[in-house]
Amino acid sequence: MAPSSRFLAAKMLDHLPIKEAKIIVELGPGTGVFTEKIIQKMGANTQLIVVELNDTFYHALTAKKYPKNVHLKHDSAEKIGEFIQECGFEKADLIISSLPLAIFPSELRKSVLHASKEHLSDNGQFVQFQYSLQSRRALKEMFHSVKLNFTALNFPPAFVYTCKKN
Ligand SMILES: C[S@@+](CC[C@H](N)C(=O)[O-])C[C@H]1O[C@@H](n2cnc3c(N)ncnc32)[C@H](O)[C@@H]1O
Repeated sequence: MAPSSRFLAAKMLDHLPIKEAKIIVELGPGTGVFTEKIIQKMGANTQLIVVELNDTFYHALTAKKYPKNVHLKHDSAEKIGEFIQECGFEKADLIISSLPLAIFPSELRKSVLHASKEHLSDNGQFVQFQYSLQSRRALKEMFHSVKLNFTALNFPPAFVYTCKKN
């Protein structure tokens, strides 16, 4: 799959309080298209935890020499709580996910969404893009509010979900 476009990056990130966030978690960075935009927007005291399972993507990200407040984790997204604790925090203010939820086994999808909600601060937001509406129900079942957005300016076109815990 091609890396996401700048238009999708804007739909994912432009409405979020990235500068004010203390802890941001990015799930599934791939080549780092969103990671770089988050780093540009975040404040000096923001901690960014980036979780990538794939060996090739992870090693390519480690070569990018990100700032010290960016913490790369070579592991699976459902362990989000452990990674936040390793940084000395309990909850994330923002979770920005590119995970392919629609092709995950349902147990993995549930466990990632459950762990994300559990480790999101009360006013936190979980943002997720998908190429289909298949995961809409799972997101609506997990989060209190789910707002849907769309961009055709990506290959493939993508839906963006912005979910709130409360
Ligand atoms: C659709 S790609 C998105 C890449 C990039 N964020 C973009 O928008 O171009 C999904 C990414 O999720 C990663 N991924 C898949 N399963 C994962 C898991 N369980 N934990 C962490 N990352 C995972 C893949 O390796 C891949 O980098």
